[in-house]
Amino acid sequence: MGAGIVVVGAGHCAGQLVARLRAEGYGDAITMVGAEAHPPYQRPPLSKNYLSGEVGVERVLLRPASFYEENDIELRLATRVREIDADGSRVILDDGQSLAYEQLVLATGATVRRLAVPGANLPGIGYLREISDSDAIRAAFSEGARLVVVGGGYIGLEVASVAAGRGVAVTVVETESRLMSRVASPEVSAWYLERHREAGVDVRTGVSVSGFEGDAKVSRVRCADGSAFDADFVVVGIGIGANDALAAAAGLETDNGVVVDEYGATSRAGVWAAGDCTSHPSRLYGRRVRLESVHNAMSQAKVVAANICGKETPYDEAPWFWSDQYDAKLQIVGLAEEGDERVVRGDPGAGAFTVFRLRDGALVAAETVNGMRDHIACRKLVGAGARPSREALADASVPLATLAA
Ligand code: NAI
Repeated sequence: MGAGIVVVGAGHCAGQLVARLRAEGYGDAITMVGAEAHPPYQRPPLSKNYLSGEVGVERVLLRPASFYEENDIELRLATRVREIDADGSRVILDDGQSLAYEQLVLATGATVRRLAVPGANLPGIGYLREISDSDAIRAAFSEGARLVVVGGGYIGLEVASVAAGRGVAVTVVETESRLMSRVASPEVSAWYLERHREAGVDVRTGVSVSGFEGDAKVSRVRCADGSAFDADFVVVGIGIGANDALAAAAGLETDNGVVVDEYGATSRAGVWAAGDCTSHPSRLYGRRVRLESVHNAMSQAKVVAANICGKETPYDEAPWFWSDQYDAKLQIVGLAEEGDERVVRGDPGAGAFTVFRLRDGALVAAETVNGMRDHIACRKLVGAGARPSREALADASVPLATLAA
């Protein structure tokens, strides 16, 4: 048996990748090295039903721990790769040991951006990316406790919705003029603002945090406009950045992520990358994209596993995302840009609608609130680069499935 494959990372993407490698018939050694203590798990529940306490750790694991043993996959958990020695085809671990590889896969994911303001290191200020982060936030939930959420994006709003449901008094502070502005249209932002306000959440937009105050722990959040909020705890969700430093230090090409081609191959032969850490060429959008999405992590993992096993498989899928807040489900397919035209189907007031985003007549993205069937139809339309008429899109009596390219 040869040195086989070393996978750096043991997250959702890595877990899917090693399982696919065995499913594709890969017979040599597979070693997965992950900084966290848990075997691969799903992150989406960490800001949803795991945070609320509805499901436990065993329900978020991607596969039972026994799967790796049964499939002869070595897990090196609570272990970091310190360096990639690409010329020597080996990785060096934080304890100084090295692991030789024939092929290397980087599934290093992403790291939360940290707020750099006075008091940012005070106890009681948390971020959410890992199981232990979610545990710490849940432990602070109690009736009447005051939570300030910094960032009105996916993390901030999902945490706000779970916390509000637990009787926590929540304030959300968002720098942009509307919620989820990175991913959603003004119509969707406005609809979610209403839901949060109905739930009693105090949402402040267009406001930046200038610092935190407190003695032993945080007790107050100060903002640049002079406003201030008392807080028993704070959760910061202001975005993530790709973990591409290891790759860059090894001389691999990086550009807002590890640069890969449509097969998941990096600039160095024998080294592949998949998931949140990558920047890949998108046929649909005619540019490189870095996606923060579980769907991308799972699909790229599948493609890289197939390519390692010699089945030439390009990655070419429309990205999709979802968010659960209160009892509403937001599903987004595609990537919209600021100037894209918007067409609304359905009545936001009735609680279910879709906002289509068009660029030069092509449907480039669609945001659906509470409409699984419409979202599924939109995935096909966006993936096919459909050019439906605005009238048909706006007319809810026209089935979306009939609007193919
Ligand atoms: P995000 O990019 O979705 O939202 C960050 C928000 O913080 C933005 O609205 C931004 O304007 C705001 N912001 C930035 N700097 C700020 C500042 N200094 N003060 C106040 N607001 C500021 O990122 P988020 O929510 O941190 O989520 C990170 C990632 O986690 C997602 O991109 C995704 O990969 C993952 N995630 C996905 C979910 C889903 O798909 N449902 C749910 C939760 C997380």
